[in-house]
Amino acid sequence: LKLVVLISGTGSNLRALLESLDQHSALDQHSTPINARVVAIGADTEQANLALADEFGIPSFVIKPRDYENRAEWGDALLDRIQSYEPDLTVLSGFMRLVPPRVVDVLSPELLNTHPAFLPEFPGAHAVRDALAAGATETGATMMIVDNGVDTGPIIEQHRIPIHPDDTEATLHERIKVVERQLLIDTVRRIADGTINLKEIAA
Ligand code: GRF
Repeated sequence: LKLVVLISGTGSNLRALLESLDQHSALDQHSTPINARVVAIGADTEQANLALADEFGIPSFVIKPRDYENRAEWGDALLDRIQSYEPDLTVLSGFMRLVPPRVVDVLSPELLNTHPAFLPEFPGAHAVRDALAAGATETGATMMIVDNGVDTGPIIEQHRIPIHPDDTEATLHERIKVVERQLLIDTVRRIADGTINLKEIAA
């Protein structure tokens, strides 16, 4: 299964995925080989993300929104680069920008995103902070298919995660990321093995 991962955060979820895929492919020769490609976009962690891709020997490119006239042109450049890999699946993992509509229309439902909340609770870019601010006693992690809304796509799988009274945004987000990483790995593995059908879920 050919995978493209879009990141623009710290890349910790990508690292976890690549480490898991390394282990799986090493241990389990019968599973469908999954070779990931990274298309990182410009971010202050850009160099770290490119180094991460190099560490795992996978190609990476940076396609920065600020290098383009507008979002649509950035989206077209991003789509061309992604399609040059002919991926079976594209995953946003810490990609902190809205994917332009044409990219969603072409790639979805083979376009997934992880979100650090139990959608539809706390959509948007500050889900962890919002859950704490709301005084919630639990939140969650969600894996979904990307559509043209903000975190509104069909949900593939999600899990509840407790909020502790002494949680900070950092401690809660790390607890959520542990679950997101497992969701990401399980979902990619199940798609590779054919036990998830994205077109049915998105129908
Ligand atoms: C994850 O919680 C992801 O769901 C959200 O941003 C975070 C990315 O973390 N969109 P990292 O960049 O992989 O560390």
